[in-house]
Amino acid sequence: MISLKVNGRDHQIDADPDTPLLYVLREELKLNAAKFGCGLGQCGSCTVMVDGNAVLSCVTPLLLLEGRQVTTLEGLGTVDAPAPIQRAFMEEQAAQCGYCIAGMMMRAQASLQKNPKPTDEQIRAELQPNLCRCGTHMRILRAVHRAARLMDSAALPSTTQGSAR
Ligand code: FES
Repeated sequence: MISLKVNGRDHQIDADPDTPLLYVLREELKLNAAKFGCGLGQCGSCTVMVDGNAVLSCVTPLLLLEGRQVTTLEGLGTVDAPAPIQRAFMEEQAAQCGYCIAGMMMRAQASLQKNPKPTDEQIRAELQPNLCRCGTHMRILRAVHRAARLMDSAALPSTTQGSAR
């Protein structure tokens, strides 16, 4: 039995310790945002966050996750109350087929938490492990910049928010 904390909730998972996190998220916990693309750590569609870092869940075994905080796209926001990164990707219409987008958002989120005001070059470098076959890269780039602005304005104290707009 492995203890797993996902999106703030504790779970006891009865599975082989070598089971990839992605399988548990999708099949046991029914959290389907993270996608199975290559299964080999080469496409990024399965990206989630572990302790704030972007991780490829298809190649991350459960045994490495005891006591860690796993966050999936479902843990960031909801349809009614999207997180800044989700809102920004929607507003920039950054998804085409959408298969890569959850992973893309999770890597962008992890990156923005460490570097809230990235340059184009830094965003490109950070998102390098995540592939998009539709070619919406320019929209994704704009979405990450928009998310950074949204996060920045959300972080302002309420007394200064009005004057910053
Ligand atoms: Fe995990 Fe492709 S499915 S990197």
